[in-house]
Amino acid sequence: MRRTRREFLQSAVTASALAALPAGLFSACTVSSNAARTAGSTALSRSPARQFDTASEIAFPKNFFWGTATAAYQIEGAWKEDGKGESIWDRFSHTPGKIKNGDTGDLACDSYHRWREDIALMRTMNLTSYRFSISWPRIQPNGSGSANSKGVDYYSRLVDALLEAHIRPFVTLYHWDLPQALEDAGGWPNRDTASRFADYVDLVARALGDRISDWILLNEPLAFIYDGYLGGTHAPGRSSILDFLRASHTVNLGQAAGFHALKAVRQSARVGSAFSMSACEPATDSAEDRKAAERCHALTNTWFLEPALKGRYPEAMAFLPETAMQIKPGDLDKMRAPLDFIGINLYYRTIAAAPGAFERVGNAQQWLFPVKMSEGQQGPKAGNGWEVWPLALYDIVTRITRDFNHPHIEITESGCAYSDVQDASGAINDTIRIDYHRQYLHALHQAMADGADVRGYHAWSLLDNFEWAEGFSQRFGLAYVDFKTQQRMIKESGKWYAKVAASNRVAGTLTSERAATSAPQS
Ligand code: FCB
Repeated sequence: MRRTRREFLQSAVTASALAALPAGLFSACTVSSNAARTAGSTALSRSPARQFDTASEIAFPKNFFWGTATAAYQIEGAWKEDGKGESIWDRFSHTPGKIKNGDTGDLACDSYHRWREDIALMRTMNLTSYRFSISWPRIQPNGSGSANSKGVDYYSRLVDALLEAHIRPFVTLYHWDLPQALEDAGGWPNRDTASRFADYVDLVARALGDRISDWILLNEPLAFIYDGYLGGTHAPGRSSILDFLRASHTVNLGQAAGFHALKAVRQSARVGSAFSMSACEPATDSAEDRKAAERCHALTNTWFLEPALKGRYPEAMAFLPETAMQIKPGDLDKMRAPLDFIGINLYYRTIAAAPGAFERVGNAQQWLFPVKMSEGQQGPKAGNGWEVWPLALYDIVTRITRDFNHPHIEITESGCAYSDVQDASGAINDTIRIDYHRQYLHALHQAMADGADVRGYHAWSLLDNFEWAEGFSQRFGLAYVDFKTQQRMIKESGKWYAKVAASNRVAGTLTSERAATSAPQS
């Protein structure tokens, strides 16, 4: 759950909403809890100080992918060009009051027209991987039927140019922009959407599969289901616990259906998903809080991973509302998909505490998922308030490695927002962002030294862009975008990342400081 956009805790869903539900809806299968497996120590014993010694240089394995990530709606613009259909984000951002300052992705970074410039930026940064997403309504304007050739052509050109630049196209098939027509037909809570997704994946795989080897089916399933169907702060803006539960099951079915559709076209493709993960730490050492941390982990990190890899919903949940989720006989097998890699998006940790009995009764969400989650308070905060906590990346990567039998992992996103400004010379001196990536890379390196099989790191983001409900108010890019002129400018962090990518090493702070002080003065 993402702070400011993913407030599970302060959900407006109350007991009265629960009471209004038909009796029997929440029939459940009770499962045993796994509290004893709680990872790590408690939140209180972990130091807020620099968590990894960044003084010395670290080296990454040969062929490690250095990349950046973006998403179609956040950068492309051209929202109704070349036959593209309306997406739920077009509809949502055009609805007054939904996005900060009334911003929309109509133009965004205009990457639909400026993609050559964007590839040039990546070349300057020496990158070897570009994670971008395909807009479903560019391919299927109404969410079904044959492919819109102009939409396909756009991605085809992009992929060819990336390959020519020796940059791996790392393609996300769904980064939140559902065709509006499918939302009108019920959206993700409608089970049929899983099959629609598989059809779309089949079309894309046929059109581009000869040149793309690495695919991400879904971006952050929990985030788009929670924010879109329960929190209501993201498209399509619904606030219903039933929709949330049904959508989560359809998405699990869709993930597997998409996986099999892709493999049917391209057996050799590497197919995974990118999950929004967060290290869940118990607020105290009490048995209740430790159990709550396990529930936090199940809900936040494995709700869409265990179904794929193990054919079940996570056990740490108190119970599974099967009827409400509309789980049918045979569905657990249908959710299975032996993902070739696990994509991890990680920004911060989460503190978990057990709700009291009274709190549970008063809140539907706490009744279903008995855990109170909040953000950590000890670390420094990025410009948008997210706690900077590199240890969270170490904790999650090592735990996923342990619990899922040493999978291939790709860090599909990590990054930070600050309100960057250009100095008199036009430069953007974001040393604080360099510090963020340096520390998270040290955390990752340590996890790899401890046995994790990590193949790549993708900084969020290549460019400052449309940050969903926050509009253009948060800048995450390694390149600055002047949204009036669309001019791009590589920030100091982008220049630093270019050195990391070229050398496959992160220089130690002592080394780089020495280099800086001994540099010849002009
Ligand atoms: C992630 C999203 C991505 C971006 C970053 C900041 O949750 O996947 O699109 O918004 O957060």
